[in-house]
Amino acid sequence: MGMAAPAEPDAPIGVFDSGVGGLSVLREVQRALPHERLIYAADSGYAPYGDKPPDVVQARAEHILELFRHAGCKAAVVACNTVTGLSIQALRERHPDWPIVAIEPAVKPAAALTRTGVVGVLATRNTVASPGLARLIATHAGGVHVLPQACPGWVERVERGELDGPETEAAVAERVRPLLAAGADVLVLGCTHYPFLRPVIERVAGPAVAVLDPAPAVARELARRLGRAPASDPAPSGDVTFWTSGDPASVGAVMTRLWGRPVHARPLPDHPR
Ligand code: DGL
Repeated sequence: MGMAAPAEPDAPIGVFDSGVGGLSVLREVQRALPHERLIYAADSGYAPYGDKPPDVVQARAEHILELFRHAGCKAAVVACNTVTGLSIQALRERHPDWPIVAIEPAVKPAAALTRTGVVGVLATRNTVASPGLARLIATHAGGVHVLPQACPGWVERVERGELDGPETEAAVAERVRPLLAAGADVLVLGCTHYPFLRPVIERVAGPAVAVLDPAPAVARELARRLGRAPASDPAPSGDVTFWTSGDPASVGAVMTRLWGRPVHARPLPDHPR
């Protein structure tokens, strides 16, 4: 708390996740704000957050937000549904003077879209059990039946870069088929790693099922908070710095694949004193 450098207009924006999943949010942020300087922190040394005790997840999130403030970031993006579900209120209370935009499962748009009245939310174990998801469902589900589905192992798969193949398809089918059997015609990607499994999820679910990713809405909300009109730039030019608490070489290699451009990952900076 409090180690903030004054935020300049050209100051960077910090985006973080437990690992590489938040790149699915980062690409939308970059498309919406193509000239901004961005810092992406992948807390891969502590992934997955989805199975860790909630106080450990919150402490990691607090630590990374401190690093962003110390780096002079003018805003932060929580690109992790698990952190949002467990801790967003506490994080905002620690930084009342700072815009923190956070992803959360797209329950409201899903409830508006479903024709069967059944919606599946694919998420981590912690998100499924979180007060944040319970609040979202209570507020936005209306008469729609929302089925939260924990998907253990999916995050680790994406962290290893296993985005396709028979084992990944089987792991996806195991969690998606029960939702289809229950009548779901909308599936919400409630974890930022899962957009990287989207082709497999869509193949398993079939063309009659809509798959929703809230990342573009998060990017638009960030632009709004910064007083900017969101762009939709397919060739953004802003500089991105990548940090990781994991092994920079192996995390950098997976990020290069998911990001589609060479990623040179650096260790997280030292904690500010
Ligand atoms: N990508 C994160 C989320 O959106 C967390 C995944 C994890 O580390 O378990 O929930």
